[in-house]
Amino acid sequence: MNLKQIVPLLLGGVFFVTSCKKGTDDIIEYNPKAYTVNFKNNTLPEFIVAADNPLTVEKVKLGRMLFYENKLSRDGSINCASCHNQANAFSDTNQFSFGVDNSVGKRQAMAIFNMAYNTNQFFWDGRADLLRDQAILPIQDHLEMDESMENVITKLKNDQQYVDQFTRAFENGEINTLNISLALENFMNSIISEDSKYDRYLAGKETLTESEMRGMELFSKEYTEFFPNESGADCMHCHSLNNFENDLYMNNGLDTDAEMTDYGRENATGDPNDRGKFKVTSLRNVAVTPPYMHDGRFNTLEEVIDHYNEGIKNSSTVDQALLGTTATGLMLDAQEKEDLINFLKTLTDYTYLNNPEYSNPH
Ligand code: HEC
Ligand code: HEC
Repeated sequence: MNLKQIVPLLLGGVFFVTSCKKGTDDIIEYNPKAYTVNFKNNTLPEFIVAADNPLTVEKVKLGRMLFYENKLSRDGSINCASCHNQANAFSDTNQFSFGVDNSVGKRQAMAIFNMAYNTNQFFWDGRADLLRDQAILPIQDHLEMDESMENVITKLKNDQQYVDQFTRAFENGEINTLNISLALENFMNSIISEDSKYDRYLAGKETLTESEMRGMELFSKEYTEFFPNESGADCMHCHSLNNFENDLYMNNGLDTDAEMTDYGRENATGDPNDRGKFKVTSLRNVAVTPPYMHDGRFNTLEEVIDHYNEGIKNSSTVDQALLGTTATGLMLDAQEKEDLINFLKTLTDYTYLNNPEYSNPH
């Protein structure tokens, strides 16, 4: 069965359920209901979204419609999900995504989940301050959807289901750039991943294998040059806490100064000290988000581990913790590499990857 066959089936199911309870969905008025995220394991910190854009059922629904809406692209050929595929944690398995007219971008599409826990800007270089700012940039990016907001607004105004849904979602009911950005922000903030094997292990519902346990220890333990047997891989240093990120932009030793072609964070801040720094992304669901890094240079987790184990390159901005490992490498043997990867695989959250609430509603 292909996607075209499955989608109508899923929609059929949804229609059946909602048509039975004949909801407020049919009424076209502004009467917002709070959207509650169904946390399963309570392994993430407190969930905080911008006070001026609280999650509502109506805005989340509108944002989801927009996320999967081809009208957002100039020629109606793509939508956000063309590059952000749910089965891959809303990332793209292409090294560089295809925009309209098959134009090719310069960076790897990023995964989307737990966005509310990203408190320090968006994109690989952090050039978008808030998620709402980020949300409308791909629409206008010439290498992505290549459409003007003016045209998008006109197209949506000519579509009755959007006229109705903006009325339900916003007090002023207007189809404008701000409301489009707020709805997309709302939907993306509703996308939560916290039901991986690792979360269920923390919640006492599941056990990890011995290899996964060893990998977990290596992940968090510090590197010590003089005690190879005690030394860990210290991934926690940057991929920290339970969202496995630290809201910082760092250089993880991919290139020497001379090799750098993408200056990353420097493009956003203008500060040469930020050269070659990129967002420390969450490692949740990392097993399903190949290829890896801002330019998708590594195809497998094995290649990523080899990079950290023995491939760190010196440059003026490389993180000190990683620089300190260059003399010996992380000293991981084959078993330890396997353990580390087995641990990373426990971060895959199938509940989220298959959650019908995040799928194409059209
Ligand atoms: C043509 C492919 C493409 C399309 C279409 C696209 N994106 Fe992206 N997305 C990317 C790429 C590539 C990046 C990383 C870009 C960069 O850092 O410069 C990205 C980054 C993001 C991020 C940043 C995540 C983070 O952790 O900082 C979010 C959120 C996002 N996109 C949402 C959207 C939304 C919403 C839409 C639709 C309005 C959309 N994208 C359309 C390719 C795409
Ligand atoms: C000094 C901070 C730092 C440390 C330590 C670190 N990372 Fe990273 N990691 C980063 C940064 C920054 C990126 C994004 C770099 C880029 O794309 O240019 C990244 C990216 C990744 C990615 C790719 C994510 C994606 O979406 O493409 C993986 C996988 C990864 N790291 C795994 C690990 C593992 C495993 C360890 C431990 C062996 C580790 N990292 C240690 C900073 C760090």
